[in-house]
Amino acid sequence: MTAFSERIPYMRASADVVRVLFESVTDPGTITFGAGAPAKEALPVDEVAEISRDIFTKDGVGCQMLQYGNPMGLPELRQVVLDHLLTPHGLPARYENIIISNGGLEGLCMISHLYLEPGDVVLVESPTFVQTIETFQLFQARCMAVETDKDGFVIEALEENIKKYNPRLIYVIPTFQNPSGRTTTLERREAIAELARRYDVMVIEDDPYSELRYSGVALPSIKSFDTTGHVIYANSFSKIFSPGCRLGYVYADQEIVDRMYDVKTATNSLTNVYTQVICAEFFIRGYYPEHLKRLREIHGGRRDALMNSLAAHMPAEVTWVHPDGGLFSWVCLPDWLSSTELLPEVMAAGATYLPGRQFFAEGQPILDSCMRLSFGQIPPETIDKGVQIIAEVVKSKL
Ligand SMILES: Cc1ncc(COP(=O)(O)O)c(C=O)c1O
Repeated sequence: MTAFSERIPYMRASADVVRVLFESVTDPGTITFGAGAPAKEALPVDEVAEISRDIFTKDGVGCQMLQYGNPMGLPELRQVVLDHLLTPHGLPARYENIIISNGGLEGLCMISHLYLEPGDVVLVESPTFVQTIETFQLFQARCMAVETDKDGFVIEALEENIKKYNPRLIYVIPTFQNPSGRTTTLERREAIAELARRYDVMVIEDDPYSELRYSGVALPSIKSFDTTGHVIYANSFSKIFSPGCRLGYVYADQEIVDRMYDVKTATNSLTNVYTQVICAEFFIRGYYPEHLKRLREIHGGRRDALMNSLAAHMPAEVTWVHPDGGLFSWVCLPDWLSSTELLPEVMAAGATYLPGRQFFAEGQPILDSCMRLSFGQIPPETIDKGVQIIAEVVKSKL
């Protein structure tokens, strides 16, 4: 058979992990702490049904939804991003600097198109979101992990790695990080923006979870400290509206966004107009504030249930992150235990999680004793049952 391009074997390992990630969602009989999806009860089904019915009867909108649109995105949705998502968070964005993407991941992929050559280094957190590693590896970039602690990137380590590798990009998820649930502190956000400026390296700030805050105080984004255009802010509608609608956006300096337009037309022309119209109308009709309250109630309740269940059932040797928001907690067993090896036993007993080893890039120790527990899709009573299953297996090994 004709050989595939060099990219395809290069991303083999991360692609295999991502495949498991998607397939772990499907078995209805298993309590799955694996999927990073929002609660099904938090999807705005009724509002979307109402908007869909109304919209086709409005003059001209039906045609607009079924027609080609602007590669930058639907004007109404770009305005929604500006008015409802960026400005309220103190980001002095301009409408012209916002481009709509096909889900958050396409934003990251477009940025990779702009910057990455084979062999380029991308500095990532340790651990980090595995699907983005897959994307960077599609461009044959080398992902190097940088030490983190409970407050995010260790800044001295980040600077050392910048000097050592002269990276093209730094990738960071500063708020309720995937997979750790941790949040980068204010001081470190400022420091990351400052390093980017000093060493002339681009930072991707990936921020899909910051709206899902259940406790603590909101922090300014890294982008808000950027005075030189070195930070590209990428976000998604997947966790606050619908992952199936595949909508996201990028906010960056004009020249970057202009080149993203070119990448967009060269790859998929434009983002789905149908879902953009529905999503924009959802915000324009004023549904978002109440919806966000509901998202926080549902997921915050699940976060609390997970924290209580871990405290009730896990042996003293196990530690975990108490996230102030998002969908994940990072649970660490004693370091001689492998979460990968325990998984088949946990699955046989009716639960599943993602072993920690899947979230590490080259350059830092792989913490296979840790696991990612995602609480978004599991009702509180079932969370307790799932944690008991995991805890029983862990206790049997101690
Ligand atoms: C940190 C992070 N970035 C990007 C994405 C991708 O988002 P989307 O589903 O909108 O492509 C996810 C999804 O889980 C994520 O956790």
